[in-house]
Amino acid sequence: MSRIKIPGLIDIHVHLREPGATQKEDFYTGSRAAVAGGFTFIIDMPNNPLPTITQERLEEKISLSKQKAICDVGFHFGTNGKNIDEFKYAIESPNVFGLKIYCNHTTGEMLIEDENLLENVFSAWNSEKPILVHAEDEQLKKVLAFSKKYNRQLHVCHISQESEVEMIRQAKKEGQKVTAGVTPHHLYLTNKDVKRLKGFAMMKPPLGTKDDQEALWKGLNDGTIDIIETDHAPHTKEEKIVDENGKTAFGVPGLETALGLMYKATVDRRITNDDVIKFLYTNPKKIFSIKEQEDTYVELDPSVPFIVGENGYESKCGWSPFEGITLYGKPQKVVLRGEIILENGVIIKS
Ligand code: DOR
Ligand code: ZN
Repeated sequence: MSRIKIPGLIDIHVHLREPGATQKEDFYTGSRAAVAGGFTFIIDMPNNPLPTITQERLEEKISLSKQKAICDVGFHFGTNGKNIDEFKYAIESPNVFGLKIYCNHTTGEMLIEDENLLENVFSAWNSEKPILVHAEDEQLKKVLAFSKKYNRQLHVCHISQESEVEMIRQAKKEGQKVTAGVTPHHLYLTNKDVKRLKGFAMMKPPLGTKDDQEALWKGLNDGTIDIIETDHAPHTKEEKIVDENGKTAFGVPGLETALGLMYKATVDRRITNDDVIKFLYTNPKKIFSIKEQEDTYVELDPSVPFIVGENGYESKCGWSPFEGITLYGKPQKVVLRGEIILENGVIIKS
């Protein structure tokens, strides 16, 4: 093949860690990882050590990202169920693309377990902007019911189990306003890989079985799953070592490997080249009403292999669960609004 031109990609699910956990990542290193991976628009999650649940905290993030990021960054607002009077601001802010609710335990302090609080949130978020949920299995049932009751646009993050694919397939059949995302790690790894990778393959939701994995690929191909989202969740190597109680920090980085894994999926005949653009650009753009970035594109050759980790990482965490694996189509040129920010595979913007 030869070089092709694709749009600047969109990842609606990243954890850039600033402020509060910049030993893992910050807006500069995280946005560099994005650009190296072909992304020019990323949306940051609110589970910082001080969660992004007020106007003040969000404004701080916006200001930091404007100073440091080398690509465009949007934000999801967070909720612990007790910040409902901040929703008006978030709904009106052009920097906010959705509301994130955590219904299962993970990194951060925003878990909502109380059903009344959860319902209040669905009732109060009176907006076309999606409610994003981390809701596994039983929790997914609950949020599907609430979003139906209040007629909200729901986006189910990182689905990982066969039963969840089926629930979403069914909800879509019934005409519910629901979309779903899957991560590259849930598509490419299973619980068997935890033996080999230990803490470096531990995240929330956890890796599933071979059957779960096949169900995810099927869901991508039949329109049940709409987008690929990386859930880029960098932690330092030290933080990923499993301690004597079997505990580690949850999450894996993904920005620098997602596109290469998707082109690998085209080489393996799992998806087509058009699907890559649909899952990483067209669908996320539509679901989150993201404005066109004018004169913005990526050039790469999807038939050219590269090995993960061979030329180092842009992410501050400096590792990947896919280290040593052959992927395809490393971005050779990235242009954002007419400005070249990556050339010959190297970031030239500072
Ligand atoms: O594994 C995960 N890590 N899952 C999440 O939901 C959060 C993320 C993080 O922020 O580290
Ligand atoms: Zn996440």
